[in-house]
Amino acid sequence: MVKDGNNGAAEFLPDRLDLDALRSAAACCEGCDLYRNATQTVFGEGPRQARFMLVGEQPGDQEDRQGHPFVGPAGRILDRGLQEAGIKRDDVYLTNAVKHFSFTPRGKRRIHQKPTAAEIDACRPWLDAELAAVRPEVVVVLGATAARSLLGRTFKVTQHRGEPVPLGESLAVATIHPSAVLRAPDRDAAYAGFLSDLQAAARVA
Ligand code: URA
Ligand code: SF4
Repeated sequence: MVKDGNNGAAEFLPDRLDLDALRSAAACCEGCDLYRNATQTVFGEGPRQARFMLVGEQPGDQEDRQGHPFVGPAGRILDRGLQEAGIKRDDVYLTNAVKHFSFTPRGKRRIHQKPTAAEIDACRPWLDAELAAVRPEVVVVLGATAARSLLGRTFKVTQHRGEPVPLGESLAVATIHPSAVLRAPDRDAAYAGFLSDLQAAARVA
């Protein structure tokens, strides 16, 4: 039988579910079609003991090339927000709802494409396994894609941002995606809102 590669990540999970085993297994994931055009799997990073897990959308262009989450422009906003909210980097595990970069080529450029609901669902086993391995106190949900993955289709970030909501044994706090801060017409106002949500997350830990 020809495998269509669209059955989701579950069949690629390793026997041992520790972070190192997960990371090496995820490098070979073909659970949806995104692995075909992306450079590499960008798995989560950070200490197993982290009290905070931050979940973004998917790797961007820089993350895809370098193989690490949040190393591009969105990562710089995120770093600034974490620092100003008093959340230490060694207390943070950083990851994404979808582990491969989704894009459409335009000339030499690669234009970010939102992952589909099917891709978000396909990749969810990795995120669940990361949550089970790290067991964070607080999950910071960065934007609509992460919210769709973790909090369901009907959760509205704009309505419930900054509010702690239960998520398994953790509390989740949603906010806008740091890329949305960069795109906002009033960047300062968007950043202030983002920071205030991160401060709310810092208070619940
Ligand atoms: N945007 C994300 O959601 N995640 C990254 O890792 C980089 C940009
Ligand atoms: Fe696997 Fe997720 Fe990559 Fe799809 S995006 S191939 S499910 S790691």
